[in-house]
Amino acid sequence: MKGLGRDQSIDSKHSKEYMKKILSVMVCASLSLGTMAQEALAFDANAGVKSKMTVYDGTSVNYTAYERLFYVTNVEDSTYQFLNVYVPDGATQQTPIFLRTYVGGYMASPATQPQVGDATGRALKEGYVVVIPGTRGRNSSIVADKAYTKTHKSVKKGQTVYTGRAPKAILDLKAAIRYLRHFDKQMPGDAERIITDGTSAGGAMSALMGATGNNPEYAELLKAMGAADERDDVFASVCYCPIIDLEHADMAYEWLYQQTDSRQALDDTHKGYTTELAALFPAYVNSLNLKMPDGTPLNADNYLDYIKSEIIRAAQIAKNAGADIPDSIGFKFTSEAGGMFAAPINGGMRPMMQGGQPPKGMRPMHGGMGRKQVGEYITDLDMKKYLNYVVSTQALKGVPAFDSQIEGINSASGENEEFGDETGSSVNFTDFTAQKNGTTVSDAVRQNVRLLNPMSFIGDSKTTVAPHWYIRHGARDRDTAFPVPVNFATKLQNAGKDVNFLLAWNRPHSGDYALDELFEWIKKITK
Ligand code: DHB
Repeated sequence: MKGLGRDQSIDSKHSKEYMKKILSVMVCASLSLGTMAQEALAFDANAGVKSKMTVYDGTSVNYTAYERLFYVTNVEDSTYQFLNVYVPDGATQQTPIFLRTYVGGYMASPATQPQVGDATGRALKEGYVVVIPGTRGRNSSIVADKAYTKTHKSVKKGQTVYTGRAPKAILDLKAAIRYLRHFDKQMPGDAERIITDGTSAGGAMSALMGATGNNPEYAELLKAMGAADERDDVFASVCYCPIIDLEHADMAYEWLYQQTDSRQALDDTHKGYTTELAALFPAYVNSLNLKMPDGTPLNADNYLDYIKSEIIRAAQIAKNAGADIPDSIGFKFTSEAGGMFAAPINGGMRPMMQGGQPPKGMRPMHGGMGRKQVGEYITDLDMKKYLNYVVSTQALKGVPAFDSQIEGINSASGENEEFGDETGSSVNFTDFTAQKNGTTVSDAVRQNVRLLNPMSFIGDSKTTVAPHWYIRHGARDRDTAFPVPVNFATKLQNAGKDVNFLLAWNRPHSGDYALDELFEWIKKITK
């Protein structure tokens, strides 16, 4: 129940009623009433409930809530397959819609209310219509009743059915987008200006909403669910640390981290995997035919230098804003001359140095607090030192990092479960790990992996890719390796999209940060 009712001060009557409703559906679902009779999609503009929320700066936002709007007609899992809409006073038909998915770890996520501390509370405060869809996930299940067995012939009554394995979560989100378009005229907010947002596996979902619009490979699946017959492309996607490109994430991870002390200390078996996986990355990255923003080809030969330049760029932005960038983790700087100024420890002012030279008779200063003072510009970064620093803040994942399941050696990851089926299985989804198990990846699993990878669809003529992108991956986030978001942002840029990308300085695996900056960006793209 991630996020429900936490950190928020919402009108308490509305909140209590909402909790009661949510709890009653959760009880129903656990009593095996997860499926629902087929009903037409509905939206009643007069059924909204007025409420208010105190936001981060102490001011109140009045809004109208429309909750439990089922976005498909064949509801398989009534705990999750609906969305909530929050319309702040003053919103019109032209107001952009901020759609936040709370998917994390590919788990099911119920439709919640907006949260004071994250982008949903901020979006309401800024006057945007907020939409929070629930989605099925790798852990959601129902117990099949008689009605269910009629539509699913291979399932027996009483059997536990996992409802949310790949690609169900993105199907639910696409159905939610289609629902918003279906009722666009009746509902405040502009379904032609949907901005999606999510973090981690939710960042992947946001990336998928942005990168797979109207692609026909999802169409039959959506039709079978009873999704509205509408377009499902969006205007913009905000992706924090998206866990994507799962079929190449293991090789990127070992290619980047193989030199770290932590990987060097592995046992021979795992060190062997590291070496083998790392060796697969250059051919993959070269196959993408990427170009840097200045048009220079980006390939295996210059890739590590490019990542280095992106980390330096992020650190320089932070330094310009006053952050202390330590030289101890590998950064090099210009000399400290050139207009350095520092206040002395015991009050009073030291005169500004003229032309880089201290005033006559005064020694050059090295750190008012006894710390080594560094110059204005970051000029270089020792990547090995930096990567060891990243690993020191959080231990690396095992090898392989994503498709980890190897008989007798490694256990299954969340991703192995995500690609399992309705029986709750865990499966391999890369050729590398399947071969270690003496098996192969089935065509069905391969297709699900494809449907969960936004990289597959950028540049595809049958897909409408969002024109605007805001992508962030923390500069010390090791949940997936830097090449994954870098490839993604670069591929979008190369396809002519408007991409705001940063390996955000010193951020760990996290999302919905620097919200002032995010909402400035949203204002700019929607004005
Ligand atoms: C998430 C984190 C992971 O490391 C991962 O492999 C998948 C998902 C998450 O936080 O959503």
